[in-house]
Amino acid sequence: MSCLRVEEIGITFGGLAAVSDVSFTVEPGEIMGLIGPNGAGKTTTLNLISGLYEADRGRVYLNDQDVTKKTAYERARLGLGRTFQTPHMLTRSTVSDNMKLGTDLADQMGFLKSFLGFKGHNFLDEVDGLMEIADLKVDWKADISSLAYGQLKRLEIVRGLLAHPKTLLIDEPAAGLNAKELEKSVALMRHAAREGVGIVLIEHKMDMIMNVCDHIVVLNFGKMIAHGTPDEVSADEAVIEAYLGRK
Ligand SMILES: Nc1ncnc2c1ncn2[C@@H]1O[C@H](COP(=O)(O)OP(=O)(O)O)[C@@H](O)[C@H]1O
Ligand SMILES: [Mg+2]
Repeated sequence: MSCLRVEEIGITFGGLAAVSDVSFTVEPGEIMGLIGPNGAGKTTTLNLISGLYEADRGRVYLNDQDVTKKTAYERARLGLGRTFQTPHMLTRSTVSDNMKLGTDLADQMGFLKSFLGFKGHNFLDEVDGLMEIADLKVDWKADISSLAYGQLKRLEIVRGLLAHPKTLLIDEPAAGLNAKELEKSVALMRHAAREGVGIVLIEHKMDMIMNVCDHIVVLNFGKMIAHGTPDEVSADEAVIEAYLGRK
């Protein structure tokens, strides 16, 4: 059973086809890259998957269930998680409150169960484990605004994982991170994939994409111009043209 399948999805804004005919499947434990030049339709595709936008055409399936007509909240309840290009944190609250927020939103029962120590682990152990992988040492009671950008970006992935998603959509996790922080974000994603989470990763840093993705979808002007392994995609003429602009 795939965790995410999109079939020929599309949306048009004022006559402009921001996304058209995009189809792909993500299996549990896979990391799929979604790349393309600025304005290619990457974030819009995530918005269509998460239910922030309603698709004009096509279908979205989570764990083989058709969620095309479901709200963003319902999709989150079905195990879809998301991180944003700019971290979405509650300002004027603590790190701890922000972490619990992600958990509560998608999986209140899962949070309670973990908190009470079901499945042989508890919430705090899980947080500690993820914080160690992310190499984050932050004061739990600190105000979220006191954190550096690089910490927030990694914390956003940690929060996404605490909701125990089956599928996690990650939009540009590396933007603004230094090499060491980037390595830690990659470690978090690999950890999640090993646990069976299916990941869709948007990123401009090509070395990161080529290094972590099992397969890659390339968009240009809202359309899929290539889909394959990192090797296949980097050798693809249409991809080289889209990126280097040569004909
Ligand atoms: N809510 C919206 N209203 C109008 N146009 C939009 C909206 N969202 C995205 N677009 C347009 O869709 C295209 C794709 O945008 P986007 O998905 O953000 O690209 P990417 O993330 O690949 O850089 C752009 O031309 C953008 O202006
Ligand atoms: Mg974008």
